[in-house]
Amino acid sequence: MELNKLSLKMGVKSVKKLLVAFLLSLLTLGLASNGLEGETLRSLAEKLGIYVGFASINNFWVLADGSTYMEVAKREFNILTPENHMKWDSIHPERDRYDFSKAERHVKFALENGMVVHGHTLVWHNQLPPWLNKEWTKEELLQVLEEHIKTVVGYFKGKVKIWDVVNEAVSDAGRYRETIWYKVIGPEYIEKAFIWAREADPDATLIYNDYNIETINPKSNFVYQLVKELKEKGVPIDGVGFQMHIDINGINYESFRNNLKRFADLGLKLYITEMDVRIPKNATQEHLQKQAEIYAKIFEICLENPAVEAIQFWGFTDKYSWVPGFFTGYDHALIFDRDYNPKPAYFAIKQVLAKKLEEKLKGK
Ligand code: XIL
Repeated sequence: MELNKLSLKMGVKSVKKLLVAFLLSLLTLGLASNGLEGETLRSLAEKLGIYVGFASINNFWVLADGSTYMEVAKREFNILTPENHMKWDSIHPERDRYDFSKAERHVKFALENGMVVHGHTLVWHNQLPPWLNKEWTKEELLQVLEEHIKTVVGYFKGKVKIWDVVNEAVSDAGRYRETIWYKVIGPEYIEKAFIWAREADPDATLIYNDYNIETINPKSNFVYQLVKELKEKGVPIDGVGFQMHIDINGINYESFRNNLKRFADLGLKLYITEMDVRIPKNATQEHLQKQAEIYAKIFEICLENPAVEAIQFWGFTDKYSWVPGFFTGYDHALIFDRDYNPKPAYFAIKQVLAKKLEEKLKGK
């Protein structure tokens, strides 16, 4: 039917209204999502052959909003790290008792939803059980560590594909951190940990993970030297995790790019393991916009480097972020707000992934 005949039938005014509504909806769709409304971070990541993921909060299966939490998680992500439930105090509460029950819930959820599990963490100085707090001889502690690593990695063999074997072993000044492991065993606890993890699951990817090593600085220089020497010695280390707990000031992007490159040149896989971008508690629209730019820029640089396998956030909804509890005056560090609405950062990341995909399809 021609437009003027239709107009006669419906009345010119209502046709005009319809047309305006139609045009407006096209415009909003275009502006809000640039035709990406059918896509999620997960769907784009999968087309790009990378992992985008999150740290899963304790006991998410019993939260009042657990079903929304799980809906969003499985829609948006293809890799999961249990935020706390694979740490020593949770999984090895007594000398002769392991408790895998909580960790298993995270693993089950991930595997049922086709996600990869990234285990966190086998050697760290925090969240240790009280029983470890005593005088150990070197031989005793080596034995304790070996048993722990082999038991945990062995238990999840074939299920946990990536392990943060050693976490935060270096101080901010760029020296070995004075942890129980370092003080009792000496620096060789690091290589031993990788060797034992490899023995327990030869197919798992084994990484060193730390914070404030994203750019070139004394700490990342020390880590670089450490992993370079491990590689040269033939210690089974496969990658490095950059935690990326950063704030509204962002980081030096050129330095980040160069840093990724030098680690990749050692033949290591790279991971962004715990990203969040904290902003002031009383955040404005500008803060949210700035945060979106930082997230987007980090994704852009990661996607330039083929060694980057995964980018993970430390949570996904601001409702369950560790940030307000740990950084006074800061909040809103993640990509979904407290009501699970995507924030500007979410849309900005999506645009970066989509643009990369377009380039990939064009063969650039
Ligand atoms: C944090 C968790 O998010 C908190 O829930 C917990 O109380 C303390 O640990 N680097 C790490 C993570 O490797 O394990 C830490 O996670 C955040 C800093």
